[in-house]
This record gives sequence, structure tokens and C-alpha cells, in this order.
Amino acid sequence: MAKGTADHRKAGSATAEAAANIAFIKYWGAVDLEAAIPANPSISMTLSSCVSRCSCRPLVGVSEDEILFRDESGSLNPAVAAFAGRVRGHLDRLRARMGYEGYFRIATENSFPAGAGMASSASGFCALALAVSASVEGGAPDPEELSIRARISGSGSATRSAMGGYVVWPSEPSGEGPAKIRFPASHWDLRDLVAVVQTEEKKVSSLDGHKLAPTSPHYRRRLEVLPERMERVVRALSERDFATFADVLEEEAIDLHLIAMSSRPAVFYWKPATLAVLEQVRRMRSDGLEAASTMDAGANVHVLCTPESEPAVAERLAKIPGVGRVIADRVGSGPRLLDSEVN
Ligand code: DP6
Repeated sequence: MAKGTADHRKAGSATAEAAANIAFIKYWGAVDLEAAIPANPSISMTLSSCVSRCSCRPLVGVSEDEILFRDESGSLNPAVAAFAGRVRGHLDRLRARMGYEGYFRIATENSFPAGAGMASSASGFCALALAVSASVEGGAPDPEELSIRARISGSGSATRSAMGGYVVWPSEPSGEGPAKIRFPASHWDLRDLVAVVQTEEKKVSSLDGHKLAPTSPHYRRRLEVLPERMERVVRALSERDFATFADVLEEEAIDLHLIAMSSRPAVFYWKPATLAVLEQVRRMRSDGLEAASTMDAGANVHVLCTPESEPAVAERLAKIPGVGRVIADRVGSGPRLLDSEVN
């Protein structure tokens, strides 16, 4: 069901789980930032272990939503104002889309600690969209509708977490989504080792980064070369050609940070250890390992690798000075509904 008028009396509790994703070609710059309409297409891999879980319970006789978040101590507490505000904004847009007027109790937790330097907005808002949809409509919407419902959170990357495997979010014709599965998770068992070099929250949000992107003198050229780069990454995935995949993945990651660093004002996400990881991963490749780096808008490095190379890559990453921990994840099969509540 896309739009409609949902019946209050039929709403029940629902719990959903969705994973984070790592972009190979990045969403960076928007045509409409508030609606998260991207200026360029992107492609990502949906992860498996780095997940958000969200329970949605309809409330009666209240006039606002209750937003809870599991904090570091492990207890479920009212969420901090900024997070609660983003969630309420997403709930309002979901209610409008589904034609539902009631309020909810929302309880969210992440499988990865807040200090792990992993972005939780894509997984969090996708899990929220699925839990609320299932609560109001009695089941999951189709994946394409879920993808759109995740996008209207304002976290554009959430639109890709609605699907498993290797996922394209096209910018044409309207950029409103939905995302599409380009290859299922079973196509290629890629691993993602996240070398965590920064645990505090980044100083410039992706939202501000999107806004600043067009101020870079290199931004126009980026948009020109992206179609060819997208073609190359899709071909490399299709043929499971790791060498080409590594080239294009790193080219794109550097380009994203080139745009950020040449924006006005300039945005620097890297830490010295970021560069150390990039260098070490190149060295790993010349030593015959299949490993390739990418970064989102942050200092941590996602090292994509094959299962055969994973143990050696993990060992070498953990030894790099400045790498606090290495989080191991892999391609995953997309969001799902769960039986047990977040409580
Ligand atoms: C660099 O606007 O989706 O990760 O809401 O903070 O998750 P958040 O950001 P969003 O921008 C994502 C920017 C990116 C690239 C990408 O994932 O495509």
C-alpha cells in the first residue's frame, strides 16, 4: 500500500531490523536536501551485522510520540532531543504517507556501539520505517515502498538499506527512489572490515557536506565522470573482478574527500591514521591480498575484502597505530521483521 487511510483500531506492535550499508559510489550533493533527492546515482553494499532494531507500539490517549533509545549502559531511556526530533519528523512524514493519525512508542537499539564510529542513520531510519509500516499495516510493505519510506527520513542512504545485497539508488528520473537490487547478496561474498580510527561524532554532518559539495570547483567534474565510474563498478561486481573493483572503489572514495576538502569552507574528515590505513591497504594489495578502501563522510576506513583475504587483512589492520578496533561485517540480505520486542 503506498498511500491511504490506515485504520487506527487495526494497528499493532511490530519490531524490525535493518542493516547499515557502505556506498561504493557515494550520494554526495542533493537536488533537494530536505526530501533527500540526490544529485547523482549511488551504489552500496548492505551489511549484515551492523544493524538497528526498532519496535513500534501504537499509543492511545496521548498527544505525542514517546521515543526511547538504548544507551551505552544498556538501558532504554528517552532519546536525546536532537535524535528524538529527527525521529518525530520521520514519524510525521510516515503518518502522512500512510494516512494514519495516532502516536507511537518507539524503542531503538543498535548492534554496534555509538562510539564505534559507524553511521547508524541509514539502518536506524530504515528499521523505523519498517517497524512503523508493519505496525500500521499489519505487515511489511513491498521493498520498493519501504525504500521510499526510508528515504523520506531525510537520510538518503537509508533508502538503500531497504534492500539486501548490492543496491543502486538511481538519481533519474526523479531521485525519489526506490532503490533497486543490482546483485543479490549471494552474488559475491564480500567482507567489510571497518578500521575505526575515530570514535567521537564527526564535526560536519553529511547534511552539511551535501550542502557544501557544489561549492567545490571540482564538483561539476565529479558529476560528469560518475556515470562512467558507476559503469565500471557495476561491471567489476558483475564479473567479480576484485582488481578493477579496488581501483574504482578507491578512486571514488578519494574523490568524495577531494570534494569535501575543496569545498568552501573546506571539510577535513581524515585523521592521520586514515592515511596510514589507506597506505597499508595498498601495500596489502601489492602483497597479493584482495583488499580495497573506502570512507564515508568520516575518518574510519571500510576495507572491502574477499573471504580468502579477510583473516590476514584483519590482522594487519589491527596492528596499525591509531586503529582502535576493527569491526567485521559482510554483505547482508536486507531488513526483516522480528518476533521479539526491543525492551
Ligand atoms: C558519505 O544524507 O544519507 O555516507 O543521514 O548522515 O546517513 P546520513 O547521511 P546521508 O548521506 C550519506 C553520505 C555518505 C555517502 C553514501 O552513503 O552514499
